[in-house]
Amino acid sequence: MEEVLKHFGLLEPPFTVSPNPRYMFFTPQHKDALYGCQYTIEQKNGLAIIYGDVGTGKTTIARHIYQKYSDDPSYSVAMMVTPDLKTDTAFLRGIMAEYGVATKRSHAASIAAFRRAATKAYEQDKNLVLLVDEAQQMTKPMLEVIRVFLNFETNSSKFIQVILFGQSELATTIDSMRAIKSRVNVFGELKPMAESTTENMIDFRWRAAGGKEHPFTTDAIQALFVYSGGLPREIIKLASVSLMRAYVNKSPKVHVTMVVAAAKELRLKEGE
Ligand SMILES: Nc1ncnc2c1ncn2[C@@H]1O[C@H](COP(=O)(O)OP(=O)(O)OP(=O)(O)O)[C@@H](O)[C@H]1O
Ligand SMILES: [Mg+2]
Repeated sequence: MEEVLKHFGLLEPPFTVSPNPRYMFFTPQHKDALYGCQYTIEQKNGLAIIYGDVGTGKTTIARHIYQKYSDDPSYSVAMMVTPDLKTDTAFLRGIMAEYGVATKRSHAASIAAFRRAATKAYEQDKNLVLLVDEAQQMTKPMLEVIRVFLNFETNSSKFIQVILFGQSELATTIDSMRAIKSRVNVFGELKPMAESTTENMIDFRWRAAGGKEHPFTTDAIQALFVYSGGLPREIIKLASVSLMRAYVNKSPKVHVTMVVAAAKELRLKEGE
């Protein structure tokens, strides 16, 4: 890897797929999603939903928010990942454990205990924030738990702010649950990137990794866009494999042929 970095004048690999907030390129829609979440949290408005296709940046935004508020002592932030949990009671218990609230034997008694803890937190000016990732896997009973939490409130403020991050099915599920849908303040959708945004993201990551001008030709950028369908994770994987091909060929530039070969290797098809 050292050799590759040296070849391209980089300090770090520019195209790793871990959701590192430092490599996040804030497009207008990513900014809107982030600001929508911050508004919901800071105004104590209750519920925001961030949804979009696979690999569009949901987990990265969730981590960004987690970092931002967990450093602030006036917030208590919990991050849950739905697939770890099976039932609504397990979900509730998981959340209570995150906030250090003792659970009770029955579901109803646990809800009551959590209500008391959330009320106390509110009175002590502690803002509870709950982030749920992979929320497309939440069952309706789990969403019902969230609805109950949103009833912990005064006339103007919720005692717990909830942000659900999930693939597009999440929005469809919410559409079918009127009681929860009417409590949503922000629906932030993350759509695939346009071709120009694709290049801007590549450029941003290249510079974040210590590079100067990125080495992709105009045709190569177009191919990145076409084969990735504009999905950020696919763009990054493709860019990473293409870059290795350029290195192996001792080429200072990444040419369209290298991207096409990389797309084949990753089994991507045009427009997918
Ligand atoms: N706006 C962006 N700028 C830079 N990189 C991005 C951007 N959006 C997503 N990525 C990158 O794409 C990859 C996938 O992002 P992330 O894991 O946040 O997606 P996701 O929406 O949570 O996907 P999934 O639905 O599969 O959980 C990560 O490497 C992330 O850094
Ligand atoms: Mg994710």
